[in-house]
Amino acid sequence: MSESFDIKSSIGSYGVHIETGAFGTRLSERHRDLILADKFFEDTLPLLLPARETIFIEAMEGAKSLDAAPELIERIRRAGANRETRFVSVGGGVLQDVCTFVASIYMRGLSWVYFPTTVLGMVDSCIGGKSSINVGPYKNLVGTYHPPQNVFIDPEVIHTLPFDQQASGIIEAAKICFCRGPEFFANYLKCDPYPGMQFDSLGRMISQSLRAKKWFIEVDEFDQKERLLLNFGHTFGHAIEGASNYGISHGIAVGLGILCALEFNRQSLLGGPDYFAGAPIIGDFESHLDTMLQYDHTLPGAVAALSVPEVMERLKSDKKHKQDSYVLILVDRTGKVVIEKVPRSVESLQRVQSAITSVLGRYAA
Ligand SMILES: NC(=O)c1ccc[n+]([C@@H]2O[C@H](COP(=O)([O-])OP(=O)(O)OC[C@H]3O[C@@H](n4cnc5c(N)ncnc54)[C@H](O)[C@@H]3O)[C@@H](O)[C@H]2O)c1
Ligand SMILES: [Zn+2]
Repeated sequence: MSESFDIKSSIGSYGVHIETGAFGTRLSERHRDLILADKFFEDTLPLLLPARETIFIEAMEGAKSLDAAPELIERIRRAGANRETRFVSVGGGVLQDVCTFVASIYMRGLSWVYFPTTVLGMVDSCIGGKSSINVGPYKNLVGTYHPPQNVFIDPEVIHTLPFDQQASGIIEAAKICFCRGPEFFANYLKCDPYPGMQFDSLGRMISQSLRAKKWFIEVDEFDQKERLLLNFGHTFGHAIEGASNYGISHGIAVGLGILCALEFNRQSLLGGPDYFAGAPIIGDFESHLDTMLQYDHTLPGAVAALSVPEVMERLKSDKKHKQDSYVLILVDRTGKVVIEKVPRSVESLQRVQSAITSVLGRYAA
């Protein structure tokens, strides 16, 4: 498979290339670049790129924190990076966040190229240009916009990625296509996405998801309106992910978060179990998410260990909320994703808590 398209951004266009075999061919072309790679590739990358200086980084949340930045920047300096250096990031969302961030600040900004190696990196985070950096207990609190020059996606690279991690990325693709509208979601489902799927179907799913996300980031690059809809499932999801101390992976937590958001409307005064009766797409979406969540065999134990009050505390401190309202991304009766300002009140918090308890109860061991 070989397919390319451009993403327009305020600092110029950049290319996305979905290309079987790119991991070998495109990576070895980059002779003067400094590679920042996931430690997972410590044994295999040197075989592909002998005698190339590479900084290996363990893909953990602590690696994409403000605390970890100074030491990494010193390592980059010791590796001789100057104004002519280009960075190459090889890894999933963590390596991408790290590289976007350092590339945006090192010597006031250098260019970089990205080779995503997780489904999540390929279907979602690789475009949009954001870095999301953790500060102490606060996830993704600070960041920059600094898109790569090119993104090279080789679907076959995920053959070593565990099925639960694949499911995590597939959930983000499902979310993006759902947010874009029924036609995109139907085309997404036609790819028959599941962990371990054929690489050509995976390539088509990646293309479908990135083309859907392209629309959001081109009409609203800086998260003012339309792009905010892509946070669907993330307010609940980040709270669950954080309360599990990152034991529940990002996409899996987002899957649970989407189910919580849908449950929130069913629990509203005018809601009820038939709230989405006029939008059969919701049933398809929920059953697809449920199938993906079953691929994470550690989920029942991790969910059982969650403290609902801690999930609530984290949800209340989400940075999107306003002084007098909680900002939630919800779905209306017609199946359309909408931004809703829910007034801060005891009743609202009870609904939030009851939605969370109901969904977590379904998945706990
Ligand atoms: N900046 C953005 O726009 C954006 C968007 C979405 C998510 N994110 C961030 O991305 C992070 C999650 O990223 P992720 O889900 O891609 O995972 P990840 O980068 O955390 O990697 C998950 C695990 O998979 C391993 N791995 C990576 N590639 C592999 C491969 N090909 N084979 C086997 N193992 C492999 C890693 O070593 C790690 O253990 C979160 O921190 C999230 O906040 C950022
Ligand atoms: Zn996400």
